[in-house]
Amino acid sequence: MKTTILETNALTKSIPTSDKLLTILTGIDLSVPSGESIAITGTSGSGKSTLLGLLAALDTPTSGSIKLFGTEVGALTEDQRAQLRLGKVGFVFQSFHLLDNLTALENVMLPLELKTNDASVRERATKALQRVGLGERLNHFPTQLSGGEQQRVAIARAFVIEPQLLFADEPTGNLDRATGHEVEELLFSLVQDQGTALVMVTHDEELAARCQAHYHLSNGVLVKQGGAL
Ligand SMILES: Nc1ncnc2c1ncn2[C@@H]1O[C@H](COP(=O)(O)OP(=O)(O)OP(=O)(O)O)[C@@H](O)[C@H]1O
Ligand SMILES: [Mg+2]
Repeated sequence: MKTTILETNALTKSIPTSDKLLTILTGIDLSVPSGESIAITGTSGSGKSTLLGLLAALDTPTSGSIKLFGTEVGALTEDQRAQLRLGKVGFVFQSFHLLDNLTALENVMLPLELKTNDASVRERATKALQRVGLGERLNHFPTQLSGGEQQRVAIARAFVIEPQLLFADEPTGNLDRATGHEVEELLFSLVQDQGTALVMVTHDEELAARCQAHYHLSNGVLVKQGGAL
């Protein structure tokens, strides 16, 4: 039976600005069962990245609750939230977020080294890069790789820990159509292989349609598409 790994209840996020309180999200209810893929669409500035940051316990809400792996996130310190994510949550961003002074292999080894420092780390990272088709580029630095290749390194880095939950914020947004398509195929095949739950922000309706559930964010409200909430 599927368990719920992420659940929000009446989540809101407001940010004080110089002249007024800016309300970005209101009353967000979302539930993510293990192994399911969820797409979130919405226009630029609608609050998608803000929502992802809350769901991933990178940020805390103004009100409402978020339960990640059964733990209420709101009451935790930043360190406790990091601990909760460790080894279970992966991220892929639009702008890759690789460390430029580390090779592809070193970038992928990094999340493993946070968990263990045994000899298997290098081997597992190598296998992850082979899986994304970069077995010949292990010792290249990010600047020596194309955008699509850099995103594949980022995907290898996210999946090397075999996360239960992967957050992706416009993972194909900075790539041309053909390369974006390759990256998309890779992402979905890894999600399927590893049984990972996926929460993906995208502008791409086709990509959203490939997910098991599709939500649209507008005026701070999240609405499930193609069915009742
Ligand atoms: N720390 C902050 N201070 C003030 N305003 C913020 C802050 N963070 C986000 N915002 C505002 O909140 C709104 C939502 O931002 P967010 O980055 O979540 O949008 P988005 O849907 O991800 O947009 P895009 O598609 O362009 O990435 C924007 O109007 C943004 O300017
Ligand atoms: Mg964004």
